Amino acid sequence: MSIRLLTKDEGEILGEFFTSLSEKTVYFFHPHKMTYEDGREQAKKIDRGEIRIFGAFPEDDPGKLAGYIFATNEPVVKLGFCVRDECQGQGVGQELLKYVIDSCRAEGRKGISLEVFKDNPRAIHVYEKSGFKICGETDDKVQHRMTLNF
Ligand SMILES: CC(C)(COP(=O)(O)OP(=O)(O)OC[C@H]1O[C@@H](n2cnc3c(N)ncnc32)[C@H](O)[C@@H]1OP(=O)(O)O)[C@@H](O)C(=O)NCCC(=O)NCCS
Repeated sequence: MSIRLLTKDEGEILGEFFTSLSEKTVYFFHPHKMTYEDGREQAKKIDRGEIRIFGAFPEDDPGKLAGYIFATNEPVVKLGFCVRDECQGQGVGQELLKYVIDSCRAEGRKGISLEVFKDNPRAIHVYEKSGFKICGETDDKVQHRMTLNF
């Protein structure tokens, strides 16, 4: 797996990735619909310096995104995280998350925060294994707030 930052010109790679996702995977991203257009919009945010997008690409298919993490440019970074359905459960997510945590730490950020649905035990497991702690919940009580402080 090779991991790198996506550029503002790679909206189509993101669009293809988003439209490949199953209904169940998209559900965990609610309210984001993960459409092709969302891919292009996220690429524009890279251009405006609002977010970075880290992509994991298989060695044998380097043009096809296997997993993605968007990260804001704030002192406490906010994350969104997703792995292509057929690549889930193979360690891609943990490898990508470790890369992003190491990058944020090296950049001198204060930490990382995120929200995760309480009925998403796999993601919660991955976050806790990576050092995140539950620190609260969203107003509607359906998501945990989790943080990793550096
Ligand atoms: C959550 C997600 C990003 C994780 O990526 P991944 O590549 O599938 O994860 P990995 O293969 O690296 O690791 C999965 C881990 O979860 C564990 N796991 C799998 N199902 C589980 C479950 N139901 N409950 C608890 N742990 C579970 C695996 O055993 C493994 O842990 P281990 O290495 O300690 O054995 C990915 O599954 C995904 O995209 N899911 C849908 C979208 C999503 O939920 N995004 C997160 C939104 S906050």
